[in-house]
Amino acid sequence: MRRVFITKVLPPQALNLLGGFSLDIFPRRRNPTRMEIMRGVKGADGLLCFLSDMIDKEIMDAGNLRVISNCAAGYNNIDIEYATQRGIAVTNTPDVLTNATADLTLALMLAVTRRICEAEDFLRKGKFRGWELFLMCGMELAGKKLGIVGMGRIGTEVARRAQAFGMEILYHSRKEVEGIGRIVSLGELLKISDIVTLHVPLTPDTFHLIGDKELDSMKRSAYLINTSRGPVVDEGALVRALKEKRIAGAGLDVYENEPKLTRGLLTSKNVVLLPHIGSATLEARMGMVLLAVQNLIDILKGKKPAHVVNPSVLI
Ligand code: GLV
Repeated sequence: MRRVFITKVLPPQALNLLGGFSLDIFPRRRNPTRMEIMRGVKGADGLLCFLSDMIDKEIMDAGNLRVISNCAAGYNNIDIEYATQRGIAVTNTPDVLTNATADLTLALMLAVTRRICEAEDFLRKGKFRGWELFLMCGMELAGKKLGIVGMGRIGTEVARRAQAFGMEILYHSRKEVEGIGRIVSLGELLKISDIVTLHVPLTPDTFHLIGDKELDSMKRSAYLINTSRGPVVDEGALVRALKEKRIAGAGLDVYENEPKLTRGLLTSKNVVLLPHIGSATLEARMGMVLLAVQNLIDILKGKKPAHVVNPSVLI
């Protein structure tokens, strides 16, 4: 019987699909350590893991995997090049989380521009003394320019939602998307956008895509939103820009060294900080788990899965 190592406890609907396999499930609520993953991989044909599990050369060498099924759209936690070299198929779970992540991006945009968290905190602290003309005034979205960096599935859905709010869409992407906004260079996007939102995968090319220089080229009245991957932004540079009010604020769901935050970020007033919950709707998370399980089963049964990151290993 083929063996599958799963790094988190899955809901019964997902486990039921794996009836024909021998399952080794990491039973704790915390993330497994490197050693625990290495131990689980030994003798396993398939690994089902999450974005919090770093799957590198050493872990792959600890066993003889045929598939690494990542329960996430992003796969920067896996050494894809080495997996491909070893003939290990890597699969991921896009699509099912697009709406949830696009919704959360809009939620962050609204939260930071309308000072939602600050206003709620003000009320909870008993500071609300009645309606005031200019109490907690923020920025309106209608008529403002939204600069979307990365116009893939999530970027496109963010654009649709923002259009419904009356925003003008600019985007920077490798390919043009018909019928939505205007494609521009990253330099122009940063210079003229009122809100910049990041939707690129984390790769060597996008690491620290937004640093000191880029933040400096943004308007002092602009906001930065990141629901992609933390290391796309140089977090130290962002903290400095926020402290010195070189940008108006930021809405972040992801961090450079999760779960750690760069010193100064927690104490910054003009940020809204969330604990990587972009895809955290029941619909999206169930969809991700079921898709990750199906991808894994497909590879182990010799079928082409819905989403494979390195299709060359299937040939
Ligand atoms: C979430 O961050 C994902 O990539 O699935």
